[in-house]
Amino acid sequence: MQPYSSYRWFAVLLLTIGSGFSSILFAGDSPPPDGKSIYNRFCIYCHGEKGEGDGPAGALSGVATGDLSNKAYMSQLSDQELHDRIAWGEEKYPYLQMPGWRNSLSDEEIHAVMKYVRTLAVDKGPLTTPSPKEREERFRKDPLERGRIYYLHYCSGCHGKSGHGDGEFAKTLPDRPAALSNPAIAATITVQSINDYLTARKQSKKVRNMPIFEDDFSDKVDEIVLYIKTLAKKEGNSKP
Ligand code: HEC
Ligand code: HEC
Repeated sequence: MQPYSSYRWFAVLLLTIGSGFSSILFAGDSPPPDGKSIYNRFCIYCHGEKGEGDGPAGALSGVATGDLSNKAYMSQLSDQELHDRIAWGEEKYPYLQMPGWRNSLSDEEIHAVMKYVRTLAVDKGPLTTPSPKEREERFRKDPLERGRIYYLHYCSGCHGKSGHGDGEFAKTLPDRPAALSNPAIAATITVQSINDYLTARKQSKKVRNMPIFEDDFSDKVDEIVLYIKTLAKKEGNSKP
């Protein structure tokens, strides 16, 4: 699965280009890969120096970049589980909005960076957020949770996390993305209308700013719409 990526993963693209160098660097009988330098080259942009999720590119993805330094959370993952999340990313763990690294990094490199990620963990007290297993389960069982993740993945970069039309990427657009959380706009949104909109975009020669998505996510539109309706409800409730 290659997610819609023209802006969201631009950082990853840049980094992947850099990975050409890494294979040269790590080729032959060079010393074993150094997890810290891999982290600083490929991960720091989103996860931040200390793994707290505050890297400069994090904001663009729309999704909060997880806190890799939270010991209570990270200690729930075995080395194998952590390795697999880095290697496969959202392909196997769709509740995590990060592409896997197995195409850019060798298994040895993934292992090394996994070990380095372990060293970032600091004791922040007991876990107050859902555990990895709870998150995974909730994603599997709850259509609204899937809608939330898909919305963040495909739409929030432009339409904003709360649907106000103020996503990070919107700042670079000549047209303001619609405020989907506006109850008047939300009321017109149906699965059919979104699908029609996306189809029209694909067929139209004069596509303006709403992207032509590479991904076929027609099977996810139901859940996205479900979630947009809750954004509008919040908006409606907050009106004086
Ligand atoms: C373009 C931004 C970006 C880059 C670059 C990036 N990540 Fe991520 N990563 C994310 C996001 C977003 C998540 C999902 C966070 C969440 O849902 O809690 C994530 C999740 C993870 C997780 C799973 C945490 C959990 O909750 O189970 C691990 C481990 C991880 N990243 C490690 C890495 C490593 C190692 C690298 C470098 C090889 C890297 N990431 C590069 C954005 C990024
Ligand atoms: C790259 C930025 C971008 C992304 C990503 C994006 N949109 Fe948009 N969207 C726009 C812009 C800009 C407009 C308003 C101008 C236009 O129609 O081209 C718009 C308009 C819309 C409208 C029309 C609202 C109205 O006025 O009736 C709907 C509905 C919509 N988007 C839904 C979505 C959904 C759902 C997603 C995620 C699956 C999404 N958009 C992703 C930029 C984006």
